[in-house]
Amino acid sequence: MGVGTVRFGTELLKSRLLAFAGEEPYPKLSFVKETSFMDKMVALCKRRGFIFPSCEIYGGLAGVWDYGPLGVELKRNIKEYWWVCMTQYRDDIVGLDSAILTHRAVLQASGHEGQFVDELVECKECHSRFRTDELGAVFCPLRPKFHPGQCGAPLTEPRRFHLLFKTQLGPVEESAETVYLRPETAQGIFVQFRNVLEVSRKKLPFGIAQIGKAFRNEVNPRHFTFRSREFEQMEVEYFVKPGTGLELLERWKEERLAWYESLGLPRSKIRVRDVPESERAFYSQKTYDLEYEFPFGTHELEGIAYRTDYDLVQHARGSGKPLDYFDEETQTRFVPHVIEPSGGVDRTVLALLCEAYNEEEVKEDGERGKEVRTVLRLSPRVAPIKVGVLPLLRNRPELVAKAQEVASWLRRFYKTAYDEAGSIGRRYRRMDEIGTPFCVTIDFETLEGVRSGPLAGRRNTVTVRDRDTMAQERVAIEDLLEYLAQKVSPGIGGFFVPREGNQGLGKSWPA
Ligand code: GAP
Repeated sequence: MGVGTVRFGTELLKSRLLAFAGEEPYPKLSFVKETSFMDKMVALCKRRGFIFPSCEIYGGLAGVWDYGPLGVELKRNIKEYWWVCMTQYRDDIVGLDSAILTHRAVLQASGHEGQFVDELVECKECHSRFRTDELGAVFCPLRPKFHPGQCGAPLTEPRRFHLLFKTQLGPVEESAETVYLRPETAQGIFVQFRNVLEVSRKKLPFGIAQIGKAFRNEVNPRHFTFRSREFEQMEVEYFVKPGTGLELLERWKEERLAWYESLGLPRSKIRVRDVPESERAFYSQKTYDLEYEFPFGTHELEGIAYRTDYDLVQHARGSGKPLDYFDEETQTRFVPHVIEPSGGVDRTVLALLCEAYNEEEVKEDGERGKEVRTVLRLSPRVAPIKVGVLPLLRNRPELVAKAQEVASWLRRFYKTAYDEAGSIGRRYRRMDEIGTPFCVTIDFETLEGVRSGPLAGRRNTVTVRDRDTMAQERVAIEDLLEYLAQKVSPGIGGFFVPREGNQGLGKSWPA
């Protein structure tokens, strides 16, 4: 979030109200009312344990969400992938985990304390509150055909509304020191710039990456988790020599687009918005927003801003400590400029869920007629569970025993689910619905030997069913790890990836 400007001023509000009355062209915004698609998605998230309203048994907390057993895995996989891409695949970025409680002076220097505000208006009839920059995007709760202010009821004058969450350090309220919950992870990076530079001995350009919670007292939390009051960010502050920022910004834009594509968001559904000067923070020379076509409109996933030297200069002033860099090549000292790719973890989760959610009519092997299946086509990279292991029949102890043995072996390498309840078709559907990319089935041929085909006569084989095509392939158990590794996690650290030298692991299955 850039500071230095209120999100939108009174002038803009007035022009928008005029525009509602048809007196001047109104910039078209892409919000639409929540669709039934979103209702279904939200229901699936609750039913299968991706996302729950926080403190639900006490009536919930607006704009605050909890991630359930599957949601937390999905989220962790996204963060892990981002972390590996930033701090392992690249040699020019190091990590940081700074505190959430933030010294007041930090947010005074950054400008947040004074200017991190939204403008809101209240309807004099129904007393609902709206952000002035969103009047054209939301609807009157009483007369939903109209935007607020268009419905006939007057709005109050705009009021400024502070987005920072304030708390206190120390037990005695009167003498306690005011601190803030950080509104972005970025400031923690800027104030540790000197320490990180010293210990990492990096040369420009180099970056500091951080993933963590941020808190904003949003006026209108909405669209499920899209705008929350507590959320997570994945941010890099990339320090560069003055004069190189614009070129490096272009490279970051391409890299971040490729990253989202590699997670399964098609390029055609990501819009790159060159943010106009009037909407940028005053110190930003250029900013791109990467926006995803959500079912409720096209909205920001990530901002990539060229912030010049604003942040380091502000903190050098505020703290009285120099935050500059000595360039050995040119023997000069200067304050680095900053490029900041700043993405939202929760928005990435939401975009991936929206993109993955599908309902389709299918007919699976052995089924009589077509039926509708719900499937989450999540990339295997981030799918919460990578493999489901299923005995063909629950009432055959020899199948169950073998399936449990295979499941506990696979668990050493991948998140693995074991399921024996219900027909095999229903179990496949359950796995489809939570996005499990592969199902391994133990059948009679596993025990007795394959009847035909290239593996004819072999025992200890399984079928592997692909979630997306529903096609099944027979694979020897001893080859299963390598088979899955090729498909599940090409190149991600933290998972088992067969490489020269560790291929033998795949043979560890007892024959
Ligand atoms: N340090 C720069 C910064 O914080 P921002 O555009 O305000 O910039 C960056 O936030 C990203 O954080 C956004 O692109 C979005 O993905 C996520 N984000 C911001 N506010 C959010 C909110 N209220 N709920 C969920 N995600 C949010």
